[in-house]
Amino acid sequence: MNTFDENDQRNHPRPDETDFSRMVDAALSRRQFLGAAGAGLGLFFGGHGLAQAAMAGQTTKRTGPAIGFTPIAANGLDTLTLPAGYQWRVLASWGDAFLPGGTPFDPVTRGTAASQALSIGDNNDGMSFFSLSADHAVIAVNNEYANYEYLFVNGRCSSLEDTRKAQAAHGVSVFEVRRVAGVWQLQPNARLNRRITANTEMRLSGPAAGSALLKTQADPSGTVALGTFNNCANGRTPWGTYLTCEENFNGYFGSAESLPQNVAESAAFKRYGISAKGAGINWHPFDERFDLAKNPNEPNRFGWVVEIDPMDPTSTPIKRTALGRVKHENAEVVVNADGHVVVYMGDDEKGEHIYKFVSAKKFDAKNPKANRDLLDEGTLYVARFAAVDGKAEGEGEWLELTHGKHGLTAEAGFKDQADVLVHTRLAATVVGATTMDRPEWIAAHPTQAQVYVTLTNNSDRGVKPNQSVNGPNPRAKNVYGQIVRWTPKGNDHTAHTFTWDIFALAGNPALHKDAYAGSANITPENMFNSPDGLAFDRDGRLWIQTDGDYSNAKDFAGMGNNQMLCANPVTGEIKRFLVGPVACEITGVAFTPDQKTMFVGIQHPGEKLAPSHFPQGGDAVPRSSIIAISRRDGRVVGL
Ligand code: FEO
Ligand code: CA
Ligand code: CA
Ligand code: CA
Repeated sequence: MNTFDENDQRNHPRPDETDFSRMVDAALSRRQFLGAAGAGLGLFFGGHGLAQAAMAGQTTKRTGPAIGFTPIAANGLDTLTLPAGYQWRVLASWGDAFLPGGTPFDPVTRGTAASQALSIGDNNDGMSFFSLSADHAVIAVNNEYANYEYLFVNGRCSSLEDTRKAQAAHGVSVFEVRRVAGVWQLQPNARLNRRITANTEMRLSGPAAGSALLKTQADPSGTVALGTFNNCANGRTPWGTYLTCEENFNGYFGSAESLPQNVAESAAFKRYGISAKGAGINWHPFDERFDLAKNPNEPNRFGWVVEIDPMDPTSTPIKRTALGRVKHENAEVVVNADGHVVVYMGDDEKGEHIYKFVSAKKFDAKNPKANRDLLDEGTLYVARFAAVDGKAEGEGEWLELTHGKHGLTAEAGFKDQADVLVHTRLAATVVGATTMDRPEWIAAHPTQAQVYVTLTNNSDRGVKPNQSVNGPNPRAKNVYGQIVRWTPKGNDHTAHTFTWDIFALAGNPALHKDAYAGSANITPENMFNSPDGLAFDRDGRLWIQTDGDYSNAKDFAGMGNNQMLCANPVTGEIKRFLVGPVACEITGVAFTPDQKTMFVGIQHPGEKLAPSHFPQGGDAVPRSSIIAISRRDGRVVGL
């Protein structure tokens, strides 16, 4: 097992936790900037809205949650760096065998299709922790994609065996863990262990199930899909199921043949980025399910949120079409005060949108089985943001995506609700949704009606005609990203309107003096780029993970490797908590209920053959891994 002693720490100067208003004033005076394309002077950073929103929460004290660790410096080391007093240990890595018949990871061959199907998948991403008892639990974790440069000795998918191996490296890994002598450990061959791959049978349910758009030769019913892939982030329902979100599904399809013009040039194929060229994943020559010329509807069966019961390894995962088909990032589930279940979702592509689903029926805490199909019936909405003139704050509204409303008619190309759901992006444009800077994770505050989203970056902002600078996306050629938040009207997550502001505008204040310096709560000591993973802990600390440029040069000088930070939503303070190894992304976070262990995902260390040997060190093959982080004194992480 790998452990790591804390690094040398520097005690960085940081903002006074109790005087955020001073920071805001400083922001307003120091960091005004011109909007793109010569638009008028825009006061940036809605500080006053932020303070008010925080105060409106009532349950949180003025100072917000305590963040007790000493922040760490950026670095470019090939290891995990944590604050003084913290320790880490590998829980599971790509290729760890955990199902009966599995074989230990083979660093020479990197395994076979058969061995991969019995092992932890590649590129762990979003994950959830499901308690069975104080020291026993199930973890479900996404395996987003495969690093061909490590999965295959020759770096390429060039046979049916390779295709099956890659497909087995995708999907979801579900496994039991136990805490033994204070250390959480993967339990190989435990009863609930399961692999879900790109070939596992699934059911399509909800309003689009059975639609002509979902029918294929192999499945004339349009209700039985095979597999899930590019599973990015996740959600966890209060009835104990796991939600896995299908993101960049489009690139898995291709064809050696040219497609009929009406298919290749269709608005849907273009908007979702589906083309004969594919993205180099190269399954289509060996598995005709992925050949668009043969199966043009197969991509319509991906881009969904999939619900999995982690407590029943024989259960059939269900694709919930009521939640829409986009490049889903995560699915943040909230039970509204009135019992309706609300799911917030981002669609991660430049200029795409933020969505919300509201269940028709109410959650019944006393009868878990009654909740099983809550995600099949309800209303899908997309967000439109309006800005107060000259300020990065304002109001917004949720526009309903229901057939027959807001122009979603047959004349506009939507003959029924199934069409609206399969082509959610097209419907969102018809109703006038706001284009966003790549919505990644959405996180809802645990005790207040307040919701945060990471907008990771957008090189097209201010460049493409449909993506002019707007309120929550205030910078052209946005290389740094921002975190926006909103409060639903009346603290009611089902409300049709909200108020919003910008919590943090990432930037480089050591390099820039304008808007690209970032908001006042970004300093040379805590700066980062491309916020992505985002989650609250039970105490209301906001944990931010990055998937950014780790060159540590030019615009990104001083930021080092990808990292994880902890923010106080009330004061705006942000402290760096973790720095990852070389060429990784930090993504996926889960807590034990006692918050004494935090699980964090290290994805693709050493991607593109960058020099990493994480986590084993020496000359080992780098492997995506789930890390368990705890304090040496056994207290709550972050406190
Ligand atoms: Fe899989 Fe948008 O990150
Ligand atoms: Ca992400
Ligand atoms: Ca990302
Ligand atoms: Ca990733």
